[in-house]
Amino acid sequence: MAVIYLDNNATTRVDPRVVEAMLPFFTESFGNASSTHDYGAAIAPALKDARKQVQALLGAEFDHEVVFTSGGTESDTTAIFSALETAPGRNEIVTSSVEHPAVLNVCQNLERLGRARVHYIGVNASGDLDLDAFRAALSDKTALVSIMWANNETGKIFPVAELAALAKAVGALFHTDAVQAFGKLDMSLKDTGVDLLSLSGHKIHGPKGVGALYVRKGVKLSPLFRGGKQERGRRAGTENVPGIVGLGAAAALAHQTLAADSARVKALRDRLETGLLAAIPLSRINGGGDGRLPNTCNISFDYADGEAILHKLDQAGVAASSGSACASGSMEPSHVLRALNIPPFALQGAIRFSLSRETSESDIAKVLAVLPEIVADVRGKSPLWVEVRPSQVA
Ligand SMILES: Cc1ncc(COP(=O)(O)O)c(C=O)c1O
Repeated sequence: MAVIYLDNNATTRVDPRVVEAMLPFFTESFGNASSTHDYGAAIAPALKDARKQVQALLGAEFDHEVVFTSGGTESDTTAIFSALETAPGRNEIVTSSVEHPAVLNVCQNLERLGRARVHYIGVNASGDLDLDAFRAALSDKTALVSIMWANNETGKIFPVAELAALAKAVGALFHTDAVQAFGKLDMSLKDTGVDLLSLSGHKIHGPKGVGALYVRKGVKLSPLFRGGKQERGRRAGTENVPGIVGLGAAAALAHQTLAADSARVKALRDRLETGLLAAIPLSRINGGGDGRLPNTCNISFDYADGEAILHKLDQAGVAASSGSACASGSMEPSHVLRALNIPPFALQGAIRFSLSRETSESDIAKVLAVLPEIVADVRGKSPLWVEVRPSQVA
């Protein structure tokens, strides 16, 4: 049975054209960019091209603003540590309560170590940031504001240009975790005040274990990894050349078809949501409305067990998730959905479908065909549903 893969916010299939671009860099062109012989010299143009491809998709001004890393987690960590180190006299971070653990756990650890004071700004039921609390948290002690461009669980998009301007006004750096936004939105980065931005290859049909940190020209970066002089001394370690070439190729492919892909994927996502809401009583979109990534649908089926639904979907050949990949399996309700304050009877029954340019109409039709029965079946076995809700549905 061919699996219908609707977990693209967790990771994507590597595009075969990306694999093709990477292959020569494992065998023929395997050199080290730092070597002076011909094998090494052959690498530099490939790295340069990849940097330009990433820069183009970001809408950044200069290619040397792109520093290659091992992925979103390393980029986030680098940005946060660097901001604290390069802002003497400032030790506060302003972030949100719905960030990915790659930001939240770093912040919590810095607090534990006594190295930073962190303000976690909440969101309302639609997932919008509490702007009053955000403004109130900013001060001349703020070293860094770190707010994600788009949320991985709900797809909610944050107003990064506006937030960056507010950060600037108090002299703080602005970082955004754009791991989910990169390749899905037109970013036009040079028109924003973003100083630091994290992105990752494996969310855009590129390879895992490679990403980048955008560092706006003129912003000081204190490297997380110290050693060799790679990446202009900003990230030591022999470059992951095949990975970087793959990231560049994936960025170039995403750039070519971004507008058309977004529109098509959004239409499919909307069809999925409309169909599910109509067919399944007591279902709700979490953090919905406009201003969302076109590919993401986070939906709750009240009084149902999300893990049981996922298991049955899996058996029916559909892969989805019950929150962020890191949260699923732990049975802990997602910190993002808790921050949205959705009622407890909706928390456990949340499912995330995340589409990609590879999603087809028939994939969506299949989910619409199987899910109503799965939810009814799972609810039928839930004592909570049997006792509390049966009067609500025919
Ligand atoms: C918003 C966000 N930030 C950071 C990461 C971590 O990226 P990586 O897997 O490349 O380390 C992810 C991955 O799920 C993510 O969704």
